[in-house]
Amino acid sequence: MHLPAFSALLTDTGREVLEEVDPVSVTKDPLATASRLRQDPKVAALDPNLPVSELVNAVMTQMGLRERGRAKFGDRAKRMFFTPNGLEQATRHTVAEYRARRTTEMAEAVLGNGGAGDLCCGLGADLLALATRGVPVEGVEADPLTVAVARANIEALGLGDHARIREGDVNEVDPNAYPLLFCDPARRGGRGRVFDPSAYSPPWDVATALAEAAEAACLKAAPGIPHEALSPGAHAEWISVDGELKETTLWFGALAKGPRRRATVLHERPGLLASEGTVAHLDADPDLPPAPVSTARRYLYDPDPAVVRSHLVAEAAARVDGALLDERIAYFTSDQAQVCPLWRVLEIVEFAPFSLKRLRSSVRAYGAGTITIKKRGSAVDTEKLRRALRPSGSESMTIVLTRIGERPFYLLCRGIEAS
Ligand SMILES: C[S@@+](CC[C@H](N)C(=O)[O-])C[C@H]1O[C@@H](n2cnc3c(N)ncnc32)[C@H](O)[C@@H]1O
Repeated sequence: MHLPAFSALLTDTGREVLEEVDPVSVTKDPLATASRLRQDPKVAALDPNLPVSELVNAVMTQMGLRERGRAKFGDRAKRMFFTPNGLEQATRHTVAEYRARRTTEMAEAVLGNGGAGDLCCGLGADLLALATRGVPVEGVEADPLTVAVARANIEALGLGDHARIREGDVNEVDPNAYPLLFCDPARRGGRGRVFDPSAYSPPWDVATALAEAAEAACLKAAPGIPHEALSPGAHAEWISVDGELKETTLWFGALAKGPRRRATVLHERPGLLASEGTVAHLDADPDLPPAPVSTARRYLYDPDPAVVRSHLVAEAAARVDGALLDERIAYFTSDQAQVCPLWRVLEIVEFAPFSLKRLRSSVRAYGAGTITIKKRGSAVDTEKLRRALRPSGSESMTIVLTRIGERPFYLLCRGIEAS
């Protein structure tokens, strides 16, 4: 998508055309939708200097992205504007909203001196969340099309009193220009996802230096960022949504408060974005000894990936007086069953060294039909195992494959319902 075609969509007629297109038809019947748009005189009139095919393409792309954007932004995606790359890189609303809330709580004193700068604002997901909380925020973005998209989003969500965008290069930004600085470097280049932090734009060390020099700052990083790459002064928070690890947030300066590591688990319910009641945290306890190791107790705990990535499994186990099965593997067991968003808890019905023959006969004996297979530290091919087990009963059960030392084990488990 090019800027002139995108700008045409922002005119009154452009908005009318977008309003009239059924978003479902764009994905379900793209040929018929494109053909109808080609015949629509309003589309040709959007910009007489552009070929109709380009305008049709811009309308179709925007509508398709709005449909895709619902997964990240819920119903507000219907009013928003996107580019494919911008949507791909945007923070999902649940996370942006959560982070903006935490930022404003921690930055109260700092924000008395002015607003925030969102360096690398993209289409504006983080900036919009801050502005929604009443924080004055300026976004800095290098790509002119993305600048136009971010501005359109500010207008679409009625946030013009709090947010604005400046086209520019963050390498030229003075870190003290804003009392609060947020930066989410681009992790996608022309050839797709970039894994080497020195190839981010701006490079990770540049973003870190900006954050370290600011009074208060927050950086968004990939969820898999190695712990060794974290700045010594930063506090880190690993965030998951519905059991999937999404990102690491790093807090600097006046925002580096409380424990150095935190796991945050967010939940989205279908059709409804997260509310305050769906957040759970676990914080590092520097005085906690390593988790004990013991043979399996009655309940197995499978910690959320945010807990595992933040190296807080010992803290999680301590909450239920639990013990690891193996000191290198993130499963623990306990005699207490405590349902909590930080982990999944299962009742162990059988724990034994791995044997296909024995497991198959147990699956039959317990009447298992629907089987979930989970593994950590096991090389077993789970799909092959599922076929080999031939479950045919009516019970839903979970098989957990792991090892203790070098020896493979399995745990046959039942789910625990929240009471
Ligand atoms: C990961 S995206 C930001 C996503 C945003 N936080 C959101 O949730 O919508 C990074 C953005 O940084 C922009 N960018 C990359 N290098 C930049 C630079 N040197 N100056 C300004 N913007 C830059 C890219 O164009 C891209 O839009």
